[in-house]
Amino acid sequence: MQKTLLSLLLLCLFLPACPAPPPATPPVLAPQDPHSFANPEEVSVRHLELDLTVDFERQVLEGRAILHVERHGGDRIVLDTRDLSVGKVAVRSPTDPDTDLPVKSEFGTGGGSLGRPLIVPLPEGADRVIVEYTTRPEAGALQWLNPTQTSGEHPFLFTQSQAILARTWVPCQDTPRVRMTYEATVRVPPPLMAVMSAENPTELAADGVYHFKMEQPIPSYLLALAVGELAFRPLGERSGVYAEPSVVDRAAWEFAETEQMIELAEGLYGPYLWGRFDLLVLPPSFPFGGMENPRLTFATPTILAGDRSLTALVAHELAHSWSGNLVTNATWNDLWLNEGFTVYFERRIMEALHGPDYAAMLALLGYQDLQAGVEDLGANSPDTHLRLDLGPERDPDDVFSDIPYEKGYFFLRAIEEEVGRERFDAFLKGYFDHFAFQSVDTATFLDYLRDHLLREEDGLEEKLQVAAWIDGPGIPTNCPVPNSPAFEQVEAQIAAWQGGTPAADLATADWDTHRRLHFLRSLPEPMTADQMAELDAAFGLTTSGNAELKMAWYLHVIGNRYAPGYEALEAFLTGMGRRKFLSPLYQKLAETPEGLERAKAIYTKARPTYHPMSVGTVDGILGWKGQE
Ligand code: BES
Ligand code: ZN
Repeated sequence: MQKTLLSLLLLCLFLPACPAPPPATPPVLAPQDPHSFANPEEVSVRHLELDLTVDFERQVLEGRAILHVERHGGDRIVLDTRDLSVGKVAVRSPTDPDTDLPVKSEFGTGGGSLGRPLIVPLPEGADRVIVEYTTRPEAGALQWLNPTQTSGEHPFLFTQSQAILARTWVPCQDTPRVRMTYEATVRVPPPLMAVMSAENPTELAADGVYHFKMEQPIPSYLLALAVGELAFRPLGERSGVYAEPSVVDRAAWEFAETEQMIELAEGLYGPYLWGRFDLLVLPPSFPFGGMENPRLTFATPTILAGDRSLTALVAHELAHSWSGNLVTNATWNDLWLNEGFTVYFERRIMEALHGPDYAAMLALLGYQDLQAGVEDLGANSPDTHLRLDLGPERDPDDVFSDIPYEKGYFFLRAIEEEVGRERFDAFLKGYFDHFAFQSVDTATFLDYLRDHLLREEDGLEEKLQVAAWIDGPGIPTNCPVPNSPAFEQVEAQIAAWQGGTPAADLATADWDTHRRLHFLRSLPEPMTADQMAELDAAFGLTTSGNAELKMAWYLHVIGNRYAPGYEALEAFLTGMGRRKFLSPLYQKLAETPEGLERAKAIYTKARPTYHPMSVGTVDGILGWKGQE
């Protein structure tokens, strides 16, 4: 027995794609999660069996979930649900696997984004819970697209579970403290294809029935499903891309560096443990840039720039395979452990791929985002702390900002610069190994940091201002400021333009997207209509096909009331639903009465095409109360 275990372990060491076995005993649970009703300290879900039918007419998922639970003394399980119509609830008979015993479940009091706890009593010995249910058309995780919102002729459905939306399509312990393996049967109308954050088909099933398996334990926020007319193209040995047929070749070209990124990532922090890394390019209403669903990253088509200039996003989602999916934030107050580490890792991959100058541009753009984020929230706001202190009354999604990303990144970079890259890399690798397939809160991370790095040198913790980074507001004074010679040249060209050199004569011909972005972000405000027109004519800004550049330009269009840009602005806002672009533009529009008017007119058309998460955000910005 011992020998078999050992040889299995050895085998795993040599097979890069071999999944690590789930830990035999449940990891010590982090403190209570304020955004979940679940009781994993009493009973925890270890495996999920889903059987769902996708009904596009009614816009619902219908079926059942069987939850395999591990009992730690509790006699009931509390599940998170929101907007689910729950039918029969039963437990599998502990003595007869062919019999399900109905149990008297009840909903507890809940409310708002947390939904309602479903409390299921567990008779002695019962370890399987069966919940029959139907989702609602308004389920927060789901977006049902009609064919006009796709690039083809079929409807489309996709989920977005992070942070606390899994409960709107699966009754589960919706907390990142709990991990489960899963398998699913999903029935879709042919010729549509279903894909999940699991082992996926590359071929169409004629009967529309698809089977999935995820053998590594994952938290609920990584449950994901998409259904649509999909084609697949391989990118490398263990990577490929799914997209609508008219998009898939463009996507495959854009993501050609993926396999190399996986290798570089493994070289930095150890083997990729999830088998395959595929991408799915969604229709343009996808509310995020990317979502690190394991084995199948979801991505926005707005990164298909045609020049591979926005592929840091692929590196980002790939990096989550370590920071987030392997070592998971224990609660949404610890989100920086997912996102800050991932931005750090992302920039290391991009540095390995394109060199330090390239990575420095990304870091400097990130620094600008951090400054803007802090300014937006207020330099003293507790929402600028790395460790958040949200109670159940605040939806983690309402405090979504650049702070966990960029303040997290710069904290880790400050440590790296202090202790040296070699020691920091060894530390990070050790951290991923030590906490693999576990959830970590900020306190646990700090203990580990002290034990493995800080205690080696007296006064290091104070020198690094750890407390100011973690529990203090704004940007600590030891924040490293990236230095980018490439951006200095950009600034010199802006100075030349302000000094009288015509825009068309500026030395910008060989500028990449990042230089152009820095240029646009650094332009003076306000500018005259003539200046705007001059820049537009020289650089073709209004007609640019790059979404990042569009957004930076449209902010000037709005700020300077540059009328020739309005039509393109409207086309942009009605043509995609990525929140990172929607928020700043609607916000900027809302600054003036005239802009607000324009925003509302655009939003009236666009709102029905946005994902519920984007709708929630823009409703807030525009003070929208059912004006539809
Ligand atoms: N996991 C996030 C998206 C997310 C975070 C969804 C929190 C819900 C709650 C994803 O990895 C992400 O960070 N996406 C970014 C990508 C960017 C930083 C490269 C995005 O969507 O813009
Ligand atoms: Zn991320």
